[in-house]
Amino acid sequence: MKVTVVGAGAVGATCADNIARRQLATELVLLDIKEGLAEGKSIDMMQTATLLGFNTKIIGSTNDYTKTAGSDVVVITSGIPRKPGMTREELIGINAGIVKGVTENILKHSPNAIIIIISNPMDTMTYLALKSSGLPKNRIIGMGGILDSSRFKYYLSQAINCSPNDLLANVIGGHGDTTMIPLHRLATMQSSPVSSLLDKTTLDKVVADTMVGGATLTGLLGTSAWYAPGAAGADLVENIVRDQKRVMPCCVSLEGEYGQSDICLGVPVVIGRNGWEKIIDLKLNEEEQALFNKSADAVRNMNTVLATL
Ligand code: 2OP
Repeated sequence: MKVTVVGAGAVGATCADNIARRQLATELVLLDIKEGLAEGKSIDMMQTATLLGFNTKIIGSTNDYTKTAGSDVVVITSGIPRKPGMTREELIGINAGIVKGVTENILKHSPNAIIIIISNPMDTMTYLALKSSGLPKNRIIGMGGILDSSRFKYYLSQAINCSPNDLLANVIGGHGDTTMIPLHRLATMQSSPVSSLLDKTTLDKVVADTMVGGATLTGLLGTSAWYAPGAAGADLVENIVRDQKRVMPCCVSLEGEYGQSDICLGVPVVIGRNGWEKIIDLKLNEEEQALFNKSADAVRNMNTVLATL
């Protein structure tokens, strides 16, 4: 299995590091436009091989896409990250051109690759990659919901005082501070609804904290987070390369599912060797569906900006 990660910044490099540690690929290419950055990080990671016991061969490349040829999965993290006070949406002008160019270059050398989008604003970048590439919809997957759900489980575990690994909880909708929908009604801790374990005020705070989870870290770190985004990307890669058929909330093209069309938005999907294989219908209640529709409106509005660029 060959995997490429485009963008050797903090998120891309962390994603690559997790892919290597989990031995998800025999060959892993890390590519960046900044001279020497991907090579440097790749050599540094390769020098952990004997310490961590992995056999993945990591190759760095300064913008040489021939090295990525024949990749089965490609993770795109390129673009500028947000600074404190910025929304993910403000990155669209710069990142749209970058993501479009990267997708084109990747497909020239890896026409059969499954493409994972992490670049922000993630929902719009996923839509852009889908439309500009013309690829079958199952091969373009936006990674936002996995990260947001992991943050949701973190805040829930803190409030309940339990292990995050005992929680099943999903965030659907957009990957934006106001567009994501932590589905508290359906969240459980070992089969107990979390709504029976937390009072309403606490649960509302968990939901609110989850929604601004990325912004909170940007405020603390001075730039966008990377450990959880990188690990979430690698988790998605694992589900694909090992054909696990796990259900993950991902940003995918909707054609009537959840009442929406001509949009890429976060919903639970079955993931396997062919990309996303099936959308799971969670049977939202009226209030959740209204939030989903509102999220779709905001993301659709953002997508219209693409036409003006
Ligand atoms: C985040 O939420 C990078 O969008 C990513 O941290």
